Amino acid sequence: LNIELSDQEARSEAAQKLKIGIYFATWWALNVVFNIYNKKVLNAFPYPWLTSTLSLATGSLMMLISWAVRIAEPPKTDLDFWKTLFPVAVAHTIGHVAATVSMSKVAVSFTHIIKSGEPAFSVLVSRFLLGETFPVPVYFSLLPIIGGCALAAVTELNFNMTGFMGAMISNLAFVFRNIFSKRGMKGKSVGGMNYYACLSMLSLLILTPFAIAVEGPQMWAAGWQKAISQIGPNFIWWVAAQSVFYHLYNQVSYMSLDQISPLTFSIGNTMKRISVIVSSIIIFHTPVQPINALGAAIAILGTFLYSQAKQ
Ligand code: 3PG
Repeated sequence: LNIELSDQEARSEAAQKLKIGIYFATWWALNVVFNIYNKKVLNAFPYPWLTSTLSLATGSLMMLISWAVRIAEPPKTDLDFWKTLFPVAVAHTIGHVAATVSMSKVAVSFTHIIKSGEPAFSVLVSRFLLGETFPVPVYFSLLPIIGGCALAAVTELNFNMTGFMGAMISNLAFVFRNIFSKRGMKGKSVGGMNYYACLSMLSLLILTPFAIAVEGPQMWAAGWQKAISQIGPNFIWWVAAQSVFYHLYNQVSYMSLDQISPLTFSIGNTMKRISVIVSSIIIFHTPVQPINALGAAIAILGTFLYSQAKQ
């Protein structure tokens, strides 16, 4: 009986691993497509506050329709749920808009190199704000992460302060978002997909007034005319693609966050960045100097050392 049980356990463990593997591969592929279209849109239409709002609006609409036609079961939520979700949504909104502002100013690869430093932010926030302590090797692993990011930043050919700060702010905001959302999802009946849907909706409400204040309809209308005249009517499909893929990759990432530890999640996220960095450099012909690539490689190696040290 014992052998039978362990056989069954092994099989269900293998099935779980396969499921996570499929989630990860889908998450990365969707993310690469999002990043490519997002940058194509921002090159022609440099209004990151509007494009960020549109991605949240599209995701919210997709989920409302899915609930209405019962593709997905609507979640049962109470006021308490939305209250707990609020800080997550604030962090998600800041992290999203900051990353998009960053990508409107610098190469996609540069934003993601800086964003590969997220584990360092996670350790520093946990250490200094939450009083958590880590084994010494974890702190040492921060050296290549921070050093590699710094080397990549100072040797970046198209360095821009707003682009750099946007990615840094996004790192900080997403550390809080991940801490709060893992807590918020614990023991709740709302699964990853619906949790992210509610998060999109609340973030959309938070972001819309700021997007109008910072950019506003007048700028958008003029910019839109220009983009359409440059790219042609196809431009609208680029905007649709960046919005739909933004929602899909996040939905899948939340579905996996539901199943795995934040640590495994952050390793998956770093591997995702490698695929984004490499594919965007190829597609946008981003000029890279060897020393710049070395910085990126050291930073990414550092995140792997970090994950090993944390285990
Ligand atoms: C965004 O716009 O929210 C960022 O591109 C997302 O960054 P992520 O790769 O950390 O999800």
